[in-house]
Amino acid sequence: MTEGGTGSPRADFVVVANRLPVDLEKAPDGSQRWKRSPGGLVTALEPMLRSREGAWVGWPGLADTDVEPLVEDGLQLHPVRLSAQEVEDYYEGFSNATLWPLYHDVVAPPAFHRHWWQAYVRVNQRFAEAVAEVAAEGATIWVQDYQLQLLPAALRELRPDLRIGYFLHIPFPPTELFMQLPWRREIVEGLLGADLVGFHTPGGVRNFRWLATHLAGAKAGYGRNEIVVDGRPVKIGAFPISIDSAALDQLSRSDAVRKRAAEVRADLGNPDKIILGVDRLDYTKGIDVRLLALQELLEEGRVSAGDTVMVQLATPSRERVEHYQRMRNDIEQSVGRINGEFARVGFPAVHYLHQSLPREELAAFFLAADVMLVTPLRDGMNLVAKEYVACRHDLGGALVLSEFAGAAIELAQAFQVNPHDTDGVKNTLYEALTVAPEEGRKRMKALRRQVMTHDVDRWARSFLHALGMPEPVDAEHG
Ligand code: ADP
Ligand code: G6P
Repeated sequence: MTEGGTGSPRADFVVVANRLPVDLEKAPDGSQRWKRSPGGLVTALEPMLRSREGAWVGWPGLADTDVEPLVEDGLQLHPVRLSAQEVEDYYEGFSNATLWPLYHDVVAPPAFHRHWWQAYVRVNQRFAEAVAEVAAEGATIWVQDYQLQLLPAALRELRPDLRIGYFLHIPFPPTELFMQLPWRREIVEGLLGADLVGFHTPGGVRNFRWLATHLAGAKAGYGRNEIVVDGRPVKIGAFPISIDSAALDQLSRSDAVRKRAAEVRADLGNPDKIILGVDRLDYTKGIDVRLLALQELLEEGRVSAGDTVMVQLATPSRERVEHYQRMRNDIEQSVGRINGEFARVGFPAVHYLHQSLPREELAAFFLAADVMLVTPLRDGMNLVAKEYVACRHDLGGALVLSEFAGAAIELAQAFQVNPHDTDGVKNTLYEALTVAPEEGRKRMKALRRQVMTHDVDRWARSFLHALGMPEPVDAEHG
């Protein structure tokens, strides 16, 4: 590290994401505290950055708040300020009401507004300037996700000495859908500012290659994983993200988590079967799909409330965006309807918590659940599916997984479902609830073989290797 203009050290490795890994929260008494940020991006990247010395540039989660660079729990954090108007236009608007639904197969209609786009351009430029300040000469910069697609090109303009990688954590959409975007060429050109553009799946790579060729004049490069733009090679590739599998496996083996898992079961009235859902409360996750499947199984008498209990843990998310508000109402109504019809006093059929739980508690729920329901209509990867598998060292439990989650490619032995097919989801859920123990163990063993050997460190190493970043020097042996 070298000394930067602001007095804090300049970093050789910088991660930049819309959010910092921690979120600043204001209590009603005006006091502030940091808590873990929501979502899979932080779950995956935090352990990765911890094991490599680096800096993280991102928004601290509160509007109109200046926060000085800080070191939080060993990570060097560089906050970027957003005004309340920018949160509305760049974050809630263009990022989460235009790009998010568009990239998730338009499962909700995306809204296109020019002033949202202008805010997106402005904020991406501000992030580029912040990174340019923090990065040492020749540093490696790893740009994350759909909120910052213009950043690679903006940063290259400011600092041509940097090595820039970009990774998209959500699906890259079919070209026909992407073409709806009035600013499609600008987005593709923004991404092409990187030296390496990474996606979860080969389908995303194919879509991007087509768009780069048709919208930005990219030419074929050396091999399938390279294109050439204005004489400069840009690598493209699929890098399926993962989790810190060993850490979660270890956590779920701890006495505390095992004891808590037994307590959870007892708290739920010792049912025969526990069905679990764990998600950010997002309309792409198909929470409604699984509630409907359960409701029909109850109606048909194939399962009975009391013997079979569902738990849905849902982290609050993007609560000021209209689609999220509507979906929350719908889900809470469905939960109320199912309980109204099938519960007995003291024994709800569905337990619904609109809360974010600590990791240990989550691990206990994973360990207690007989069936894990992961039913997104579309999902870039879905780390929850992998977390469940990592926690099942006992080879118990069954994973029901949507074909439309990126994870379905790697987790072929899950009970896969088409979330649009209610009968299919219902029957597969029933199959998972009644699977013979030996068959269940066989499936879980195969799933664990994949998840335990393909962890987030392997993902990060393969991306950074493709980007040409020098391997980190082992602190003890280097
Ligand atoms: P996304 O990134 O779209 O939110 P992922 O499934 O990839 O979806 O990642 C979600 C992350 O958030 C996982 O690490 C998961 O454990 C965590 N998470 C989801 N729901 C909760 C909850 N209710 N409490 C705590 N963590 C949660
Ligand atoms: C997904 C996105 C992330 C985002 C996270 C939480 O994982 O890919 O970029 O940070 O959801 O969403 P939020 O809008 O709260 O940051």
